[in-house]
Parts: sequence; C-alpha cells; structure tokens
Amino acid sequence: MGAPFIKMQGIVKKFPGVVANDHIDLDIYLGEIHALLGENGSGKSTLMSVLAGLYKPTAGKILINGVEKKFGSPRDAIANGIGMVHQHFKLVEPLTVAENITMAEREGSFWLKLGKYEHELIQFGAKYGLSVNPSALVWQLSVGEKQRVEILRILYQGSQVLILDEPTAVLTPQETCELFENLRTMANEGCAVIFITHKLNEVQALADRVTVLRGGKVTGVLQRDEIETKRLVRLMVGRDVVSHYDRKNVSDGQIVLEIDRVNALNDMGLPGLNGLSLVVREGEILGLAGVAGNGQRELAEVIAGLRKTTMGTVRLRGEDVTNLSPLEMIRRGVGYVPEDRMGMGLIPELNITDNLVLKCYQHPRFSGRWLLNNREIYNKSTQLVEQYQVKIPSLEQPIKLLSGGNMQRLLLAREIANEPKLMVVVYPVRGLDVGATEAVHKLLLELRLRRTAILLISEDLDEIFKLADRVGVLSRGQVVGDFNVEDADVEEIGLLMAGSAKGVENDVCPR
Ligand SMILES: Nc1ncnc2c1ncn2[C@@H]1O[C@H](COP(=O)(O)OP(=O)(O)O)[C@@H](O)[C@H]1O
Ligand SMILES: [Mg+2]
Repeated sequence: MGAPFIKMQGIVKKFPGVVANDHIDLDIYLGEIHALLGENGSGKSTLMSVLAGLYKPTAGKILINGVEKKFGSPRDAIANGIGMVHQHFKLVEPLTVAENITMAEREGSFWLKLGKYEHELIQFGAKYGLSVNPSALVWQLSVGEKQRVEILRILYQGSQVLILDEPTAVLTPQETCELFENLRTMANEGCAVIFITHKLNEVQALADRVTVLRGGKVTGVLQRDEIETKRLVRLMVGRDVVSHYDRKNVSDGQIVLEIDRVNALNDMGLPGLNGLSLVVREGEILGLAGVAGNGQRELAEVIAGLRKTTMGTVRLRGEDVTNLSPLEMIRRGVGYVPEDRMGMGLIPELNITDNLVLKCYQHPRFSGRWLLNNREIYNKSTQLVEQYQVKIPSLEQPIKLLSGGNMQRLLLAREIANEPKLMVVVYPVRGLDVGATEAVHKLLLELRLRRTAILLISEDLDEIFKLADRVGVLSRGQVVGDFNVEDADVEEIGLLMAGSAKGVENDVCPR
C-alpha cells in the first residue's frame, strides 16, 4: 500500500471539561475511502476539524507525505490538499454555482472569466461524475445538489483529500447512492476520501478501511475484508455492558400507552412512521434504540399531540386519544421532554419562573380571575429549583443563560411536577457531561418508581441498557425487536439498528 499520505500521530484535543480526542493515530492513503465510525460524541468531527485546520490540537502531530505540518487555518490545510465538507454547508445562497466554486479566485478579471469557468466546471465535474449547472443559483438547489457543489468546490481548490462529515444525514436514499458512486470515482481518480458516519451499513457499503472511535480513542482499524457488522458494533459500542444503576423492580403494571399500527408523515411529507406499534406499562421504561431519522421525532410528537397520524390508534389508559391537541394530552398526564430543549421545551428569553409554569398556568392554583397568581407561581418555582438542585443565581434569569445540564434538569423538574402518567423523553442527555447525565438518569428512575410509564428514545445504547426495562429498536418508522433488558444482547440490538436483521445490511448501494 506504500506510505500513507496523511499520518496523524497522538492527536489530543481538549475542550473545557472534555477530552474529545485522546491520543488518536490515523493513517490515510491516497486512493482509499476511509470511514471514521463512532457514536455521537466519540470525537469524529473534532479529529477531522483538526485535520482540516479548524482546531489546533492540544498535542500530537500531522505528517503529510512524511513531513510534519502545522495548520493555522483551513487555508493551510487546503494548501496541503485537504478540504472538508461540513455538516452545515458554507455556500453563499444568492450566488451561482460557478461563483461559489471559483470565489477564491475572484481577482481582476473574474467577471470576464466567468464564462470560461462555467465551461471548465462542467468538464471538471464530469471527471468525477459530479454534474452541476454552473449558472444555477445556489438557493434554488436541492440539498443533494448543494452538497455536490461543496464537494466540487473542494476538488477545484486542488484537494486530494476530501473529508465529509456525516454527509448522508441530509440526503434521500437515492442521493446517498449517487454520492457513494461519486466518492468511489474520486477514490479511483487517486483522491483519499474520509467519510464520517455512525451508520454501520454505510461502512459496509463504502469503506476500504475503517477506523472506529469510542470515547475519543481509537478502538480498532479494520481492512475491507475484516469489516463485519458484529465486529464494528463491538468496537463502536464496547463489549462491556454498563454497570446497571441499582434499581428496584416494579411489578407488571397496567398498560398506560398503547400505539397500534400508526402511520404519520415527516416534515417533508414522506412516511415517518410506518405501522408502528408499541406498549408501555406503568412503572416501566421502554427504551427505543435506533439511528436518528428513523421516526424518533415523529413518534414523540404523535404522542405529545404535536403531529397528526394518518392511520392507526393511540390509546392512553384505554382511552382513544388519537390526534388530540397538545393541551388535551397534557391534561391527560403526558409529559414530554423533546430533543430540542431550547426550541420546543423551553422558551430561552423567558425567565426560569415563567418557563416552569409554562404548561400549567391555566391551573386554578396559578391563575386568578384575570391575572396569574404570582405568589403561588413563585413558591412553586422555588420549591422545584430546590428539590431538583438546579443551580441558578436567580429565578429572574433568562433560561438561555443556563448550562445544558441545568436546563435539562429544569425541564424534567417541570414535567415531573405535573405528575405525569406517561413521560416521553428524547435523547435526554445529549450534550450533557457525566455529572448532569447521572442526575437526569436518577430523575427518570425516580419517576419510574412513582409508577409513571416512560418511553425513552435514545441513540445511546449504554443509556438504554442502564435505564430500560424493555428494549426495542426504531427502524424505518417501526419498532423492531422487543426484549427484556436482561435478555437483550448489545450486538443483536446493534444489528437491528443497522437494519441487518431484516436482511438489508447492504441496502445502501450494494457493491
Ligand atoms: N467546540 C466544542 N467545545 C466544547 N466541547 C466540544 C466542542 N466540540 C465538541 N465537543 C465535545 O467533544 C466531544 C466529541 O465531540 P465530536 O467531535 O463532535 O463528536 P462526534 O463528531 O463523534 O459526534 C463531545 O463530548 C463534545 O461535546
Ligand atoms: Mg460529529
């Protein structure tokens, strides 16, 4: 295979309170598609931002063709042939494709040369199978087309190494397939492609080699012929299943939530839930694992009354509550801690007190004949903040100034105080540090002991294994698998997450 084009050696990158990259080694060869696989937060984006000159490493070095280089900015990385397509594109929407791609060369007679550039771009794109219309305005393009423009821009700058950060997250299956073909062409043309993903089937479909990260460390490097789903799962998720929290068993309870063959559309008007069925009983946590984008959001919103179903039934303690309003669902005892804390759960500009009574200001205790009863509201807020140990300087502080952990604690406090019969939590500890994570987990277990039925939607298998009584997997808008946590096997769950149990392991552009 010769010598690697890029050698990252002992890369350490620390952020306040986190070691995002912990002595990482990575070799990249020209002509290969190299997958960087890992769960959320395992350090993939950080490592590649170091390589692309966006972050300065805390320690470690980068060798290009055997020579040590120090990148002070993305410009330096580009000068060394390394370019990155970020999760959020950096295109200028009102400009044309050609203008965006050639912007760096905008000197002197740029405008005169534009016609020439346009012609050149078509030819250049064709070489890599990337067809673009150079005179189209970027804002008119689909997401897939914008991504193609980004890739072309980086190649046009002379990059030999193309880094893509979770490029398929925004694509339709057809666009994904097309992207994969283009990446293969680039590798065949002698480029190195580094492909960040947390999806096993994409590694299967595309990678020549894969480096797996877990908790900021490399857990394995596999060659094409060693790539095997079970092995990837083991490296990515870790073999040792967590030490369980100490929890008391709650005996079989009544069914609280029953979802029966429900369909719902996602925001793009495509099927988000496809005949999904599940049951959650009182005093039990049902953990749904799965890769984001498989119906997580749609499911939670259907239960919270925020999204209409197109078919099927939702029952709460036997009562048909299909398509009732959010307020009706709150009245029936549904608590909801959404994925997007700031957007959906809390109002960042309002202070802590107001946020705490957001859902119950209509309760007689808090609203007088004309005005809200401020004393009662203040008392209740003080009590909640103390009880749940939310660390705040004052109740008057706007919520946006709190840390993620305190925000989440506050949100949970509010939901718990309403004594929910059913609690739906989505990615509850995303972005939280270890301490805050534990606090949130303990709150959920406490709620369980009070016999609330809990639906926990998470991408983190450790979290699910620690908390859940029953485990299922959300895949393509359905719940597949239903295990008691004692009988559940991490690898089997991982396989279901990758979709392989349905015989579709290589469904992404089989090679
Ligand atoms: N700019 C930043 N400031 C502070 N912490 C960060 C920053 N970027 C990432 N992190 C933290 O570093 C860890 C790794 O994050 P990241 O590289 O984004 O992981 P991945 O891309 O694998 O999901 C996470 O714990 C994340 O919270
Ligand atoms: Mg990332």
